[in-house]
Amino acid sequence: MKYYIITGTGKGIGNALAEELLKEKDTSVIGISRHQTIVHPQYQHQNLDLSDTQNLIARLPEIFPDLKDAEELALVNNAGVLGEIGYVGEKQPEDFGYIFSVNITVPAILMNAFLEQYSALNVPKVVLNISSGAGKYPMDGWAGYCASKAALDLFSQTVQLEQDLRKTGVKVFSLAPGIVDTQMQSQIRSADEAQFSLLDKFQDYKSSGSLASPETVGKKLKKLLQNVPDDLKVVCRIDEIA
Ligand SMILES: NC(=O)c1ccc[n+]([C@@H]2O[C@H](COP(=O)([O-])OP(=O)(O)OC[C@H]3O[C@@H](n4cnc5c(N)ncnc54)[C@H](OP(=O)(O)O)[C@@H]3O)[C@@H](O)[C@H]2O)c1
Repeated sequence: MKYYIITGTGKGIGNALAEELLKEKDTSVIGISRHQTIVHPQYQHQNLDLSDTQNLIARLPEIFPDLKDAEELALVNNAGVLGEIGYVGEKQPEDFGYIFSVNITVPAILMNAFLEQYSALNVPKVVLNISSGAGKYPMDGWAGYCASKAALDLFSQTVQLEQDLRKTGVKVFSLAPGIVDTQMQSQIRSADEAQFSLLDKFQDYKSSGSLASPETVGKKLKKLLQNVPDDLKVVCRIDEIA
């Protein structure tokens, strides 16, 4: 059996990826989000608010059970939040903890647990972290989001370095999925222009039909997970998947 542990399966990209993977008979998905929207015999849901890291730590044994029949294993850290769009100096202080918990602390905790729990299983293993172009350059109104995704990129590169030094064969990616038609994009389009100078540009992406569908992105991510390219860098973009 191929096992995929995916955060953020409630909606958007994570939901589309899980649905796509579940089309295969030899595949099981363990999904984590606040809402269960997938019902499938090969799907197991963990209802969790990932901003509560103490609760997440308590639930790690359920998220990463013994999987003795595993032929392949993947962890997909997909859940992510933009937080409140606004300039630093004008934001609610609690927002920073929320963004960094979901976007970087949780992926770090889950990578640590995944690598530890399955270290004795000698099967192909992949960690796919969903990053963002916004982790590569500053965007006003998104300081916490940009910084958290930049942190995810460097965390991923460091974990890959460690796995290479240990010669485990584990592959780690931090992938920017492009601009995708999900609730996150609706949130961006409803921002206050005074708190986000690129509002027009993001509204144009939608009206000009430039957004990718979550289903298209889900299919590409499935392709990456099922046929891991040797030449793809750790920090990569969806358009680099052949
Ligand atoms: N859409 C884009 O254009 C775009 C661009 C670049 C990067 N990304 C990245 O792609 C990933 C997926 O984003 P998306 O566009 O699919 O966003 P989305 O439609 O807003 O979905 C976010 C997912 O994360 C889950 N989630 C959010 N907060 C959570 C929490 N506190 N606890 C547990 N689960 C939580 C949601 O499920 P529940 O609501 O059920 O909890 C949902 O499944 C994110 O990491 C995002 O940063 C997206």
